[in-house]
Amino acid sequence: MIPRDTIEKILEATRIEEVVGEFVNLKKSGKNFKGFSPFTNETNPSFYVSPSKNIFKCFSSGKGGNAVSFLMEHEHFTYPEALRYLARKYNIEIEEEQQTPDEVREMNEREALFHINAFAQKYFSDQLLNSEEGRAIGLSYLKERDFREDIIRKFELGYSPKEWEAFSKYAIENGYKKESLVKSGLSVEKDNGQIYDRFRARVIFPIHNLSGRVLGFGGRILEKDDKKPKYVNSPESDIYSKSKVLFGLYFAKNAIIRDDNCYLVEGYTDVITLNQAGIENVVASSGTSLTSEQIRLVKRYSQNITILFDGDEAGLKASFRGIDMILEEGMNVRIVMFPEGEDPDSFVRNTRIAEVLEYLKNNTKDFIRFKTDILNKEVAGDPIKRATLIKEVVQTISLVPDGIFRTVYIRECSAILEVPEQTLMNELNKILRKKAYKKETKEEGVVENQESTDIKVVQKTDLDLNDSSYQERDIIRLLLNYSNDEIEVTEEDERKRPVTRKYQVGLVIMSDLGQDEIVLSHPGYRKIYQEYQKALQRDVLLDSDFFVNHEDDEIRSIAVDLLSSPYELSKNWTNKKIYVPTEKDRLWLTVQTSILALKSREIEKEIAENQKRIKEAENDNDLFMLLEEQKALKEISREINSKLSRIVTR
Ligand code: CTP
Ligand code: MN
Repeated sequence: MIPRDTIEKILEATRIEEVVGEFVNLKKSGKNFKGFSPFTNETNPSFYVSPSKNIFKCFSSGKGGNAVSFLMEHEHFTYPEALRYLARKYNIEIEEEQQTPDEVREMNEREALFHINAFAQKYFSDQLLNSEEGRAIGLSYLKERDFREDIIRKFELGYSPKEWEAFSKYAIENGYKKESLVKSGLSVEKDNGQIYDRFRARVIFPIHNLSGRVLGFGGRILEKDDKKPKYVNSPESDIYSKSKVLFGLYFAKNAIIRDDNCYLVEGYTDVITLNQAGIENVVASSGTSLTSEQIRLVKRYSQNITILFDGDEAGLKASFRGIDMILEEGMNVRIVMFPEGEDPDSFVRNTRIAEVLEYLKNNTKDFIRFKTDILNKEVAGDPIKRATLIKEVVQTISLVPDGIFRTVYIRECSAILEVPEQTLMNELNKILRKKAYKKETKEEGVVENQESTDIKVVQKTDLDLNDSSYQERDIIRLLLNYSNDEIEVTEEDERKRPVTRKYQVGLVIMSDLGQDEIVLSHPGYRKIYQEYQKALQRDVLLDSDFFVNHEDDEIRSIAVDLLSSPYELSKNWTNKKIYVPTEKDRLWLTVQTSILALKSREIEKEIAENQKRIKEAENDNDLFMLLEEQKALKEISREINSKLSRIVTR
């Protein structure tokens, strides 16, 4: 039991935005924060956090409450577990009133496993740091490997004594049942019913889930012994499934978000040594081959994975599968190879940190260069093998879900392998067609008729509030027609002197809308907009040809439609040499107006949605928060509209 006054201390220290912020990407919005609901799969953010009231509210699921209820909902914690989590986050010590053996017995099974693991972790850590045997054997081993004490504490490393049943005995004394000890894998049952410690005489690496609870353990032997496995791991249980866990992710997630990249290594020790060197965005798949569940865990935090490989060739081919799987998830994968005979752990330990960073910088290869480099060595002048190599690389590229990325990779591949781009493209299309055919026959022809979302519908002039397709259409039209045009604009510099600056239309539009994270609602326009976005991530500003030749019918037909502009002047005018300002002449104003018009429509939509929520608000807390939000939205709307009227009346 957690004493009453401790609970109060915990709740006082808790900042809801910090707690929720660990799980939801929150953006400031007026006095509140706003984000996508973690409980539903929504496309418009309707999840609010109010720091002043210390509550959250999710308008798409109806859930709401304080930090404790958020953790109970999101992490499926019990009430005391949520409190313990917060206590740990805010460094508040809980002097728990001892649980009676009866209380221990009453806990449900999953909870019992968590509980037993937490209990075991504390025991192992205590043995490592405070017992004579642990310090002499375990701690000195870790110190010999240059593990610092702060890192040992951070990762909650431990030591399990030599005695056969040291832990098992201690756990039974403390009210744990034999069955749950066996179930957790901490104890092993012999034929005669007696139990002994699975991890005896090993250093212990706890494996944490995303909220820092211990799911299981890995135990490393201390001396080399060919008769015993180097590592012993917790068996699969109700709470631990090794294919769904990444060692170190709990400690890495913030750094992964910050650096927008995740290093993937093989072993526990690699994770720890890298952390010690200040590289914290690192996780290990712990001896299993990488699974898509593990990849998706990383994807919550970043689109980028960099695999760090030991410098032995044996495992390399096996790594190809992992690369393919990451690409299939639509993520970017890069690879670093360490020098012969070194793994990340040994390399980082023996190298100055500045050099490690330099090494990582200079030796990170994208998957195409990595794969071709390796395969190229094998091929050496054999034309048939070379053809197989090319096919293999294109096969990998075909796994990338995004068309633009595929095109870019094909280009790179063509340069490296010295094969014409078109040849590779043909091969790629062959593979893609085969896949599409397979998929279609699988779905037995229930292919929706996409073309029925007729573009003409969009051109209607009477607009209702939920339809911003006119504004969206205008933006896409400007992008397609003028993306690569440069406009000269005379502005004032810091000292109010006029300066002329050049802007590229496409960049102006994309960065301005990007800042406000505008999402287009018309599916066709959205597709085009997203193509621009994705290409810009690679610093490419697409031109209209890309869309006119696009494989997607809808994109192609929109592009053609919007490029055959109704704004072209009739020949008569130009022939008569009468000067009429064309859209191109006043392009800057047109671009600014279109951007603001779209933003204005977006904000009106949000205001209307919010208004609806205000009407439906169920209590004062919700109402208060929504009214604040409404005020903030209206302020933004006023700003946009005054800018707009300034431009239009100029
Ligand atoms: N592993 C395992 N069982 C083994 C050997 C390895 O589960 N018998 C897993 C462990 O998770 C280990 C990872 O595979 O961390 C990588 O193996 P290895 O490189 O051999 O171990 P390291 O963690 O590098 O340990 P050390 O540096 O102490 O050799
Ligand atoms: Mn190693």
